[in-house]
Amino acid sequence: MARVVGGIGTSHVPSIGAAIDLGKVGDPYWRPLFDGVQPARKWIEDVKPDVVIVVYNDHASRFALDMTPTFAIGVGEQFASHDEGYGPRPVPVCHGDPAFAWHLVESLVLKDEFDLAMVSEMTVDHGLTVPLSLMFGKPEAWPCKIIPLCVNVIQYPQPTALRCLRLGQALRRAIDSYGPEIKVAIFGTGGMSHQLQGERAGLINAEYDKMWLDRMESDPDSLSRIGHTELLREAGSEGLEIIMWLIMRGALDSAVRRVHRFYHVPASNTAYGLLVLENA
Ligand SMILES: [Fe+2]
Repeated sequence: MARVVGGIGTSHVPSIGAAIDLGKVGDPYWRPLFDGVQPARKWIEDVKPDVVIVVYNDHASRFALDMTPTFAIGVGEQFASHDEGYGPRPVPVCHGDPAFAWHLVESLVLKDEFDLAMVSEMTVDHGLTVPLSLMFGKPEAWPCKIIPLCVNVIQYPQPTALRCLRLGQALRRAIDSYGPEIKVAIFGTGGMSHQLQGERAGLINAEYDKMWLDRMESDPDSLSRIGHTELLREAGSEGLEIIMWLIMRGALDSAVRRVHRFYHVPASNTAYGLLVLENA
């Protein structure tokens, strides 16, 4: 049977991808961040998942305001890097796992009544590729299959934090009911506090971010009751992305063991957070 080996929560700041692509990880500005990520890289190198389900949001790349699925899953054979204006990131194409992805969809739709959009052809932007680069560096090919799980955190009305936690719990049931013996890791990406525009541009709320990191581990149910208004106020207009971590957390056991935690400010104008969890 398929087995969940753990989950990673990580911000997906685009400038981190640029730093990796341009060979700047050793620069004084970036080095503390990349040093802080190393234990997570070691963990995933040891665990060697066969498949990573990456929960991320698309930033008006593959999906725009003409079509905004609340939840969309990639069921195709492969997913290339999207050109976000500077050419596609020089990263390997993601190879999907259609058989597993279709099993997940079947379980989510028919058993748990989560009606995901099924996407055969999709490109993926920095929301998905930056976490892969952070965890795997610059390989010729990604060392595992990738299933994109895209969440709308851009266009009102976004799903609630509770809906995300419940989707994660349903995702776990779907994984557990898959026959082949594969190891599965889940990435929840986005956040932490940041705001890119308006009077509060540059907002970072370290105290609030640390509360999220604490409770992701010990009390995710309390986080699932937080409303969008609080998130916008405390974490900034783009801080709402953090609800995607709850999909990862919902796919883990209630009791988890922390492998690694790291928080760093700033990564460009964003707070960077990282959490690696295993089932206890
Ligand atoms: Fe984002």
